[in-house]
Amino acid sequence: MYKIPFYRHSLNDEDIEEVVKVLKSPNLTTAEKNEEFELLFCRYLNVEYCLTVNSCTAGLHLAILSLDLKDDEKVLVPAISFMASANAVLMANKNVVFVDIDPETGLMDLNRVEDMLKKDKKIKVIMPVHLYGQLVSPKDLLYLKEKYGVYIVEDSAHCIEGERDGYKPGFGDFACFSFYATKNITCGEGGAITFHDKKFLEKIKLLRLHGLDRRRHRILYDMELLGWKYNLTNFQSAMLITQLKRIDLLWKRREEIYKKYYNAFSKMNIKMPKIYGKSAYHLFVIFIENRDEFINKLLNMGIEVSVHYPKPIPLLKFYRERFGYKEEDFKNAVWFSSHVLSLPFYPSLKDEEIEYIIETIEKLIPYYLQD
Ligand SMILES: Cc1ncc(COP(=O)(O)O)c(C=O)c1O
Repeated sequence: MYKIPFYRHSLNDEDIEEVVKVLKSPNLTTAEKNEEFELLFCRYLNVEYCLTVNSCTAGLHLAILSLDLKDDEKVLVPAISFMASANAVLMANKNVVFVDIDPETGLMDLNRVEDMLKKDKKIKVIMPVHLYGQLVSPKDLLYLKEKYGVYIVEDSAHCIEGERDGYKPGFGDFACFSFYATKNITCGEGGAITFHDKKFLEKIKLLRLHGLDRRRHRILYDMELLGWKYNLTNFQSAMLITQLKRIDLLWKRREEIYKKYYNAFSKMNIKMPKIYGKSAYHLFVIFIENRDEFINKLLNMGIEVSVHYPKPIPLLKFYRERFGYKEEDFKNAVWFSSHVLSLPFYPSLKDEEIEYIIETIEKLIPYYLQD
């Protein structure tokens, strides 16, 4: 049976050799490779500061913590994202509120965001999620920041290479990135947090490692505040450095695959999200009626697929039970999460595999006509 996995990583011999070199050196934990990567990542995104962490979730948690919000202040998160976006707010003991999405893009609906900012002065942070690799309009977000005096913490787990109206990710107060196993560059589990204001540098360094303070003495350290254990290893950073060098090449191949899919599915009248600006092309999704049955058909034909995300965050059991959210509060997100389907989309996908996926969907699609 033709078996196409949902994801294959793109690590090459150089990535592996660099990891092995570090494994043969004295420094396994956070060290010089972290600093080298942080510098290169700053250059790539044109941001001032970058600190590596062991996940994007950790980065989001530290970003929220470092803002010192008051107990009754709130963070606004889109209803469609991975649960990590909202969990990070609760982990920081802060209040999360959700906003519905624009069903054409899946991104947070900025008109609704502005309505909520007008009504609720306790919302102090917007967390745009650059879903599937597309930036939530930086121009509009910066306008809202200016007008309402809110912070912007970007969940950029899906977006390193994206650009919109001349902005790259990292335009907000903080941006958090993921190097999880399936991300555009990966070290298995890992992340980074970027920012522009130097005042956060020492604080996030402290929060990243138990609040441990070596500034006065390297050995006779002190503890300044209660921090977490969120540092990334030296060998993981080594493999990120080599991948960052070819990140745009990897992007180019995903762009090629995007075009093949997009052209083929457009002819079949399959709906796909609209993209504004340059996407990082992290995930490729289509909208399908009777999606769940369609998934089983594809799996039976040897094509592994996924769903990002099967439920809006506020309608996940935990959030529903804790906050009492209902489906009618997030109508667009409910439609989105019941129709969206992610296809295999990675640089090592072979042309014949792409053709097989397209042909299979072409055969099935007449039985899955859309709204
Ligand atoms: C949109 C989004 N935000 C946050 C995360 C969390 O990333 P990490 O697994 O690195 O913590 C993910 C992970 O898949 C994600 O997709």
